[in-house]
Amino acid sequence: MDRKRVFSGLQPTGNVHIGNYLGALRNWVRLQEDYDCIYCIVDLHAMTVDYDVAAFAEERRNAARVLIACGVDPARSLFYYQSEVPQHTELAWILGTMTGVGQLSRMTQYKDKAKGSEARLGLLAYPVLMAADILLYRAHAVPVGDDQKQHLELTRDLAIRFNSRFGDEFPVPDPIIPEHGDRIMSLQSPTAKMSKSDPDEASRILVLDPPDVIRSKVKRAVTDSGSGVRHDWEEKPGVSNLLEIMSLFSGTPIPALESEFGSSGYGKFKEAVAEAVIVGLAPIRAAYEALDDAAVEAGMRRHAAVARDKAEEYQQRVRVRVGLAG
Ligand code: AMP
Ligand code: TRP
Repeated sequence: MDRKRVFSGLQPTGNVHIGNYLGALRNWVRLQEDYDCIYCIVDLHAMTVDYDVAAFAEERRNAARVLIACGVDPARSLFYYQSEVPQHTELAWILGTMTGVGQLSRMTQYKDKAKGSEARLGLLAYPVLMAADILLYRAHAVPVGDDQKQHLELTRDLAIRFNSRFGDEFPVPDPIIPEHGDRIMSLQSPTAKMSKSDPDEASRILVLDPPDVIRSKVKRAVTDSGSGVRHDWEEKPGVSNLLEIMSLFSGTPIPALESEFGSSGYGKFKEAVAEAVIVGLAPIRAAYEALDDAAVEAGMRRHAAVARDKAEEYQQRVRVRVGLAG
């Protein structure tokens, strides 16, 4: 029997952090066991906000290398740059003709990113391109963090809308969101999510951070007034976030960590958190060092060619459905 299909994407600008890893990438890697997986560096999405043109190509290359180091396996999964498969944007246009501007302007991410700047069409249409990414390959499941839930809802709406207007073409995809780690918070303001775009570098741990940097970031992480290591998002968001991170890296359940560190001071707890993160990330750093940029790039080119063939076959079916063929 054919395996079900998974699709997901990650933006290349800004370095990959442990929120990306725990919220999404760990699932990307695991799902390769049981699904037919397609993973994409979504460079066109990264252009919807101001970006550094001179650094862009390098950032894309680096993101690809980091993802392979995290366990995205080009021998098992299709892995390429979004812009090299033009069928994504063609389908986005078609889906855009069926999307209400009102629904797009209510998206939380749009409201956040458009704040204080001139609202641009690309930013508004961002979720339509994301829906096209997913529906282009008829994906059944999409591993993402909690912040993408709303975009997945739109994708599902568009699949249903298209199917009822033009005939059954798209499966309605389900998000795969981890029960823990779906929303890793900033180390500096633990009521906001850890983010690539936060100007404060101490707010996030990168998957390639060396041990001394990890120790120093965890040491400086905001904890809460009073002592006591307890998991309580209301009273102790900083400590709760560190408990989640430690639990996810070490595999030790949170209640066990609470009993181990409950009465010790924050200092000892933070040292243990840092060590768990260092041990968890060490294999990724080693894998990254062992990879060669030229070989990664050659693989990306080969995979884009395979993806284009596959995408073209699917996209032709859409053209026929909407009256653009024959
Ligand atoms: P992005 O960096 O926006 O391309 O996000 C790549 C993936 O990481 C998406 O699936 C996001 O939902 C996920 N992600 C981003 N930030 C976090 C976070 N702080 N906690 C958990 N998941 C996250
Ligand atoms: N919007 C996603 C993010 O910021 C990235 C993305 C683009 C994506 N296309 C996608 C994720 C398709 C899953 C599926 O994280």
